[in-house]
Amino acid sequence: MNDAHGSPQTVVVFGGSSEIALAVLSRLAARRTRTVVLAGRNPAALEAAAGALREAGVTSVEAVVFEALETDGHAALVDDIFDRHGDVDLVLMAFGELGDQATLEDNPPAAARLARVNYVASVSIGLAVAARLRAQGHGNLVALSSVAAERPRRSNFVYGSSKAGMDAFFRGLGDALRGSGARVVVVRPGFVRTRMTAGMAEAPFATTPEAVADGVVRALETGAETVWVPPRLRWVMTVLRHLPAPLFRKLGDG
Ligand SMILES: NC(=O)c1ccc[n+]([C@@H]2O[C@H](COP(=O)([O-])OP(=O)(O)OC[C@H]3O[C@@H](n4cnc5c(N)ncnc54)[C@H](OP(=O)(O)O)[C@@H]3O)[C@@H](O)[C@H]2O)c1
Repeated sequence: MNDAHGSPQTVVVFGGSSEIALAVLSRLAARRTRTVVLAGRNPAALEAAAGALREAGVTSVEAVVFEALETDGHAALVDDIFDRHGDVDLVLMAFGELGDQATLEDNPPAAARLARVNYVASVSIGLAVAARLRAQGHGNLVALSSVAAERPRRSNFVYGSSKAGMDAFFRGLGDALRGSGARVVVVRPGFVRTRMTAGMAEAPFATTPEAVADGVVRALETGAETVWVPPRLRWVMTVLRHLPAPLFRKLGDG
């Protein structure tokens, strides 16, 4: 259960080694989150993250194996986590791959694989988590979507389309959970300086994992359903969404 201040006590992260997720967890640790489950595929990275969280005051940190591509096992994994930890206040969906557009265009199986990680796995984990949140009658599911979900661009439409799918899925899931006591928050960061974007030319309005973490914490406090980071991207994208395609291509990279 959230504590008396409304802060989550028990948090589960799918993509437990994500830099953005770790910034969120660092903020939450300072706000008295005491139990964290890190689900991921790289034991060494999860152990390093667990150590940092223990130092930050999280008393119980557990690492569990999670591979996004193994969708058949997702429901059992979610059930196992919830069965062993009881009430879960917050589930953060932080796994994802960016890929290289040119490489993906030349390699359809690799592009399909990326879509399975970013979109298909979000569906299987998301539905399993929603069933448990609905049953317990409370909890937040926070999904890291992207500004790339808003309008496909020539330079990264494989990634962008996979994020558009997961973004639409989680918005619908939020509607499905209305009245249950549980809810969904969709987070749309712009370019965030993490290992995912290392070496890339920065896009306008580039930001930090800490700024995304602040946006997530604010949404938990205010009940916002959609979070843009930085916030002014909401207005920028409101304009860009409606630009005629030739103009959009000229402004962007198409
Ligand atoms: N950085 C940005 O500019 C940006 C902007 C908007 C949205 N986002 C989204 O924010 C989320 C977190 O990104 P980040 O910047 O924190 O990058 P990150 O540090 O690279 O985190 C990505 C996470 O996804 C996990 N992952 C990738 N493929 C997986 C698979 N097949 N099975 C299980 N886990 C897998 C990674 O695990 P490993 O450690 O095992 O690789 C890692 O934990 C992603 O969904 C990303 O699309 C990022």
